[in-house]
This record gives sequence, structure tokens and C-alpha cells, in this order.
Amino acid sequence: MCSLAQRHGDNLYPVQFSATFGDHTLDLEVPEGVWNPTPHGVHLGNMLTQLDFSGEHVLELGTGCGVHAILIARAGAPRMTVTEIDQPILDNARHNLEKHGIEIPIDYVVADWIQVDGGPYDCLITNPPFGKAGKHYRRYFIDTLIIEAHKLVRPGGRLIFIHSSMADIPRSLRLMDECGMEVRILGETDHEFRNYYFEDPQYLLEMAKIPGGYQVRDGRQYERLMAFEARLPR
Ligand SMILES: C[S@@+](CC[C@H](N)C(=O)[O-])C[C@H]1O[C@@H](n2cnc3c(N)ncnc32)[C@H](O)[C@@H]1O
Repeated sequence: MCSLAQRHGDNLYPVQFSATFGDHTLDLEVPEGVWNPTPHGVHLGNMLTQLDFSGEHVLELGTGCGVHAILIARAGAPRMTVTEIDQPILDNARHNLEKHGIEIPIDYVVADWIQVDGGPYDCLITNPPFGKAGKHYRRYFIDTLIIEAHKLVRPGGRLIFIHSSMADIPRSLRLMDECGMEVRILGETDHEFRNYYFEDPQYLLEMAKIPGGYQVRDGRQYERLMAFEARLPR
């Protein structure tokens, strides 16, 4: 019998998402149409709990159900701006933040990816779309994030994001280097392919072309998940 996740390969199925990140246990409502946090988001969340955002106005692009926004606020951010492509997704994030007692000032903004007014921000955090980017050029959200970060983040500020080996890590590292960013790895892990990867033969073919994109162990495919902190040039 198919699991719910298999039947909803778009990863937008409703779920009550519970997870523990460091000392924080979150219990999030994720309605139909809102991204259900994946191992990528979970790994990024774990890395965020080890950071300090005191004094930083943080911008989060594509907040989804707000899982990272809660952790960023708990890690000391005094102010946040969170974005999404649609108002109902933002309404759900606001609901989850309020439910978790987050009281700092937060701007909830509908914006198409990096086209955000305001700033410059001290820090930009995101789990960028990739597998379900909906773009022929699947790296669109990663490339624009890196190339346009200087328009959103102040000189010397930081860009923090999660990256799968499937999205070509060496290529992003080169791009960050070319943009003069100083990069450090916050932490890495690996995870077995999500069921919905197998529903898109084109995606699997694309991933087979990425050197080191994934590993096969005992007949199962695993991707590497790396969280980066990239410091912009001063
Ligand atoms: C990989 S999901 C991450 C969601 C959430 N941060 C998490 O980790 O669970 C990417 C998010 O970006 C949003 N998104 C997709 N296209 C977007 C766009 N053009 N502008 C802003 N957000 C977008 C999606 O709605 C989705 O919530």
C-alpha cells in the first residue's frame, strides 16, 4: 500500500509535523499546499540551533510552515522578515510562530524569491527550492540566491542555506568564491532519497549527470546534505 507521502508526491500534503532541534521540540501544523519539512529542512534547523542571531535582522526566503523562523527567533534574532510566494502559506507560518510563542517583530512578505524590498539585512537564511523547483533550469533558486545576495545582505553579512549534493555542491562553491564570499560548512549529513524522487525519471537522469551527486549503498541511493554559511565581502 502507498504511504501518504507516496500518494502526494508533490510534498504538499497535510501533516502534523513534530521534531526536536537541539533543546527545541516543535509541533507544527502543515496544511495542504504548504511544504512538508524534509530532511534538508531538518538538517538546516539543527544547524540553526547552534548559531546566535542576536542583533541581526534576519531575512528568511521561502519560510514554508515557519519551522526555521521559530528556531531563528529562539536563537536570538530581535527582528525577522519572512517571505513566501503565496499569502496562505505565510498565514500558516504566522499561525505556527504565534503558537510557539514567538513575539519579536516579524514582517510577513509575499515576494517572488530574491525580489524583496527593504534591507539590507544582516543575514539571509533559506532552504531553496531545487527538486521541486518547477523550473527547467533547476538551479535557478540557488544561483540567483548567491549572485543576488549582495542586494539583500549588507557587506560582511551572512548567507546561510542548505544544499544537496544533487544540486552540484562544487558548482555552488565556485560561484560563492567568484562572488568573493568566505564559506564555512556548518554541518553535513546524508539521507536516503525521498520517495517522490522516483516519480520523476527526468530528475533521476539529471542527478545521474552530477559528479558525486549521490551514493548507492546496499542498493539504496543517498544524497549528502550540507549547510553553508557564506560571509559576504566587506
Ligand atoms: C524547499 S521548500 C522550504 C520550506 C521551508 N523553509 C522548509 O524548510 O520546510 C521551499 C519554499 O520556497 C517557497 N517558494 C517556491 N518558489 C518561491 C518563490 N518564487 N518565491 C518565494 N518562495 C518560493 C515554497 O513555497 C516553499 O515553501
